[in-house]
Amino acid sequence: MSIDLQASIPNNVNLAEDRRLQRALEAWQPNYLKWWQDLGPEGTPGYDVYLRTAISVDARGWANFGYVKMPEYRWGIFLNPAQESRVIPFGEHRGQPAWQEVPGEYRSSLRRLIVTQGDTEPASVEQQRRLGLTCPSLYDLRNLFQVNVEEGRHLWAMVYLLHAYFGRDGREEAEAMLERHSGDAEKPRILGAFNEKTPDWLSFFMFTFFTDRDGKYQLASLAESGFDPLARTCQFMLTEEAHHMFVGETGVGRIVQRSCEVMNELGTDDPAKVRAAGAIDLPTLQKYVNFHFSVSVDLFGQETSTNAANYFTQGLKGRFQEAKLDDNHTLTDGTYPVHMLHGDRIELEQQSALLAINERLRNDYIDDCQRGVDRWNKIVEKAGIGFRLRLPHRAFNRRIGAFSEVRATPEGRIVSDGDWTHRSAEWLPTAEDRAFVGALMTKPVHEPGKMAAWIAPPARGINGQPVEFEYVRFG
Ligand SMILES: [Fe+2]
Ligand SMILES: [Fe+2]
Repeated sequence: MSIDLQASIPNNVNLAEDRRLQRALEAWQPNYLKWWQDLGPEGTPGYDVYLRTAISVDARGWANFGYVKMPEYRWGIFLNPAQESRVIPFGEHRGQPAWQEVPGEYRSSLRRLIVTQGDTEPASVEQQRRLGLTCPSLYDLRNLFQVNVEEGRHLWAMVYLLHAYFGRDGREEAEAMLERHSGDAEKPRILGAFNEKTPDWLSFFMFTFFTDRDGKYQLASLAESGFDPLARTCQFMLTEEAHHMFVGETGVGRIVQRSCEVMNELGTDDPAKVRAAGAIDLPTLQKYVNFHFSVSVDLFGQETSTNAANYFTQGLKGRFQEAKLDDNHTLTDGTYPVHMLHGDRIELEQQSALLAINERLRNDYIDDCQRGVDRWNKIVEKAGIGFRLRLPHRAFNRRIGAFSEVRATPEGRIVSDGDWTHRSAEWLPTAEDRAFVGALMTKPVHEPGKMAAWIAPPARGINGQPVEFEYVRFG
């Protein structure tokens, strides 16, 4: 399953044998490149970046590392190999052969799922476009660009499905992917978290930890889809996504480590002194956790959802690791505990498991986030510091779902609007916090192996290279 990188659009879907499709995608390609030029990473032409490029979809060794000038990155279309006689793993069509074409009755649902996923990919590139100008190291700059080119490729992945399987309205949707923009007043991106700003590297690492992880769970449930091309596309995207979350987890971890070092050097836990020494105090990190977690849990949608139930019953979108779940995979009679609002109390309530699909995925996601937070706390613990980072309650700072109607503290206590206004500056980054973080990151660090003062070096380099490796060469 190797990929011809010299093709105008590298692919493993036999594009050359489908001239119509190839021409349609080749017509979209210049628009994509123009979008990348206008709204992709700023001020980078001429940079040689040590990037990995997919050259096959084998589990082992699919990647090739080498210097690439970013606009020359080989964006392409890669699907995991078809599983022979794969069957639909869940829902009312369970056990029937997986669909190789879009079933007519599910056409608009599938298109909506693909467009919603696809829209997030270029959105994050737009959100991150200025970060290269203030990179804390060449290692981090390289990682940012790796994430950016792969999000660009994820757009290609969804656009391929739209072009190949949805005819004219698919082509129109593919165009619209390049017309909506993150934070645009008239044509914003579809989902809220993808219209937030990613103005600094702390936000970037939080975003790749929390929001890319939402992507992992959405892709994992689409990777179960009865629509086989979507499943295979998402399976391969997941292999790339893992690196994005690695960037987020280790990025925040290195900031935590540096903050602890400064606290120990100064013998203080006074946030003002930590800040004065050029590091980010732990309470500020906690506020960023609160913010990025809350906007990311919104992405899972309503606590009970007939849409999600329908997607499941129809075999379009499954649960996380569907095959490992020990039930009948149709959920016609099971129940699932859901956090619900009763007056000013939050209680667990048994709901139809089918209606609770979103909530189950959100729980899988929260458990995964918690494991990462635990690893950050190990760093704090090792430094002998008493502070612990915590995920806020799922009801905190919500804009979607039952809890969007109330104000809740990070502990999950419902408070009045007045209390919220009074205290939210303790819980969420204030303009002043953001200004402080931004001011730490005004200049890029371009010397190989050097790190900005607010972040510790990584434990190791990329692809076995030393941390001092010249990950980016400036033209
Ligand atoms: Fe992605
Ligand atoms: Fe990602």
